[in-house]
Amino acid sequence: MTASDSLRSPAQDVVVRAPGKINLFFAVGDLLDDGYHEVASAYQAVSLFDEVRARHAPDFGVTFTGSIDTSDLLTDGSNLAIRAATLLARTADYRSGVALQIEKNIPIAGGMGGGSADAAATLVACDALWGTGLSRDELLGLAAELGADAPFALLGGTAIGTGRGDQLSPALAMGTFHWVLVYSATGLSTPQVFAALDEHRERHAPDIGPADPIPHVSVEVLQALRAGDAHVLAACLHNDLQAAALTLDPSLARVLELGERSGALAGVVSGSGPTVAFLTADADSALGLHVSLSASGLHAVRATGPVPGARVISRA
Ligand code: C5P
Repeated sequence: MTASDSLRSPAQDVVVRAPGKINLFFAVGDLLDDGYHEVASAYQAVSLFDEVRARHAPDFGVTFTGSIDTSDLLTDGSNLAIRAATLLARTADYRSGVALQIEKNIPIAGGMGGGSADAAATLVACDALWGTGLSRDELLGLAAELGADAPFALLGGTAIGTGRGDQLSPALAMGTFHWVLVYSATGLSTPQVFAALDEHRERHAPDIGPADPIPHVSVEVLQALRAGDAHVLAACLHNDLQAAALTLDPSLARVLELGERSGALAGVVSGSGPTVAFLTADADSALGLHVSLSASGLHAVRATGPVPGARVISRA
């Protein structure tokens, strides 16, 4: 048996780790006929991971552990990890099920792509467990069916996403960026945040004009990433959804102000929020900001990026 045969042969127990993401830049275009918006996103995968353990089982099931309260998550067929496993089983004509155990550390409904990370990790875990041997491109195609951010959770690193956010091209990023993330006690619904942006644009159309039909990531962002320059990147962090997220959760304005007054280079709401990501100059500044935000009673964690996408970390 060759090394690649052994990678493709079925396993008994597989653990896959997938990262959360920050949108460094997020431009939102018009609402499309399918209910999605054309977007342009600069994604960075950060060192905050969910882990999916997959074992053979006759049916499909999921349980949760980890640092995040998962009591509100549904564990039926609507769960994104179960949908990922059943989609792969259908595609590969696999006739049995899987028992999934997910250690959740990425906030739920937090704008960091936690559900997408679970979906991506489940695809990789079941592919290894069942020995289905799908290519990376085939897995990316399945991920895109599960959610706009799921392909990026597979790819990881730093990338530009266009279309619904799922058409990816890797971006060159030098060095490591140091982030402090502030979680909110209550999540925000992604469709509601997009809808709030649409309403705002409609109300103010005479003043602000139509949205850019083909949104794009600013060239300054790509240059800052290539140079690995946190100061330049901080100056061009941007999110079209931020104002909408702040309307739905006005407490985020205070968080942004506090972080920027306490040593962050800049802060931005990640994706549809409510997680706020603060970019800092280096590891020491991140530590200082973490301590100071925690002392103010906020739930803050540190993370670095970029990190790889969904990967097998153990198989037996
Ligand atoms: O793909 P995902 O399930 O993560 O998207 C959740 C919701 O976010 C969509 O149903 C849609 O309302 C909104 N969305 C959007 N445009 C995108 C991505 C998401 O309007 N490009």
